[in-house]
Amino acid sequence: MRPVATTTARFLCAGLIAGAGCGGASEREEKTPPPTAKAPDETKDRAPAPPADAKAPDGAKPGFAWKLPAGIASPPAVPADNPMTPAKVALGEKLFFDARLSVDGSRSCYSCHNDRCGNADCLPKAVGAGGKPLPRNTPTIWNVAFRSSLYWDGRAPSLEKQAIGALKGGNMGLGAGLPDKAAEIGRLPEYAGAFAEVFGLEAGQAVTPEHVAAALSAYERTLLCGDTAFDRKAMTPAAERGWRLFTGKAGCITCHSGPDLTDGRFHNVGIGVPPGGKPTEGADTGRMRVTKAAEDAFRFRTPTLRNVAKTAPYFHDGSAATLEQAVRIMAGGGRPVPGRDPLLVDRKLSDAEIADLVAFLESLSCPGKLERPGGPRDTGKDPAP
Ligand code: HEC
Ligand code: HEC
Repeated sequence: MRPVATTTARFLCAGLIAGAGCGGASEREEKTPPPTAKAPDETKDRAPAPPADAKAPDGAKPGFAWKLPAGIASPPAVPADNPMTPAKVALGEKLFFDARLSVDGSRSCYSCHNDRCGNADCLPKAVGAGGKPLPRNTPTIWNVAFRSSLYWDGRAPSLEKQAIGALKGGNMGLGAGLPDKAAEIGRLPEYAGAFAEVFGLEAGQAVTPEHVAAALSAYERTLLCGDTAFDRKAMTPAAERGWRLFTGKAGCITCHSGPDLTDGRFHNVGIGVPPGGKPTEGADTGRMRVTKAAEDAFRFRTPTLRNVAKTAPYFHDGSAATLEQAVRIMAGGGRPVPGRDPLLVDRKLSDAEIADLVAFLESLSCPGKLERPGGPRDTGKDPAP
């Protein structure tokens, strides 16, 4: 018997790998920034599927009809100060695809989070507006609403804050020009009416970065990745074997747990770590940059594995070119450096077992797309070659 896709991390821990460190990581848990009052904590249960006639849960304001694909039992939590409305989601979608939001008109959010690349950008490390090289690999943003902290190092506590970061930082390159840009976009005839309606603005009231971020975040909360072969219990025999390895011998579920295959915590798996294991000039120290705690050096948030087959290259530094390579590294215990997470050990898997794990990960691809017929078209450049 195998647990169903919606089985909780805790059940998987209790049932399958008791004693492997699963759930015993309270020390690490405390390092995760405290979730906001209603934010989901992916290390806890996502609620079981509501009965068909159930009322919308808290946070989903009446009037917003969530479309939940198979495998997603309940909608993500929604902050009280940014309720979901169809008009806000439509506005956010349009903004997401609009390159005029970047400093030089070269990038939309979608440029780097596009369908072709599983909602990432197919590059080892992102290239921002103005051709600026950025330090990290672009993660998929499917199911991002279920993360309790954003970015590889968890530095943003909410989608709203993350969106401000993306606009100001190297991605969109606006810096101190962000408020002017928000006002400028808000004055465009095609946007003015929508911002006024969605946020109840009065005539002449400027659109702010917070309005833009709120709309983008509402849209992002609708990006739900389900209906995968894993969710539909339609995996190939190889994928079934891979799932058994994943939850058993290979020990992946210790960290890649819960419906999105992430514990939301931060681990040092040895990727991008200098040989001595100590922070050096210019090294990306990950979580330590947020907490300043030495023990957080080189810890990065466990990524979701949903859609992972489409988001090559892998890891926060894009250092693994293929999924097979990434799986081999993880199954081999990560990169051997001092300070590596003790949960990682060489599982001594055969080539056939590695192939089965890859087949399982391929069963996590969701059929959904951001681009839809008649929807807003991307106006930015695709930074990938
Ligand atoms: C130039 C490429 C690029 C552009 C443009 C871009 N992003 Fe990203 N995005 C990234 C990278 C790289 C990261 C990871 C950065 C890190 O962890 O430090 C990221 C991370 C994110 C995350 C966090 C994902 C997670 O799992 O924690 C979200 C959400 C996101 N971006 C949304 C947006 C939005 C909204 C926009 C437009 C305002 C945008 N991005 C524009 C490259 C880009
Ligand atoms: C100790 C916790 C832990 C265990 C155990 C673990 N992972 Fe990971 N995994 C991580 C972290 C953290 C990362 C991100 C590392 C980085 O980029 O620095 C990661 C990254 C990955 C990636 C790359 C994803 C991407 O989007 O870049 C894949 C694929 C992956 N793991 C698969 C596996 C498989 C398969 C197993 C079992 C053989 C496994 N992991 C075991 C924590 C873990």
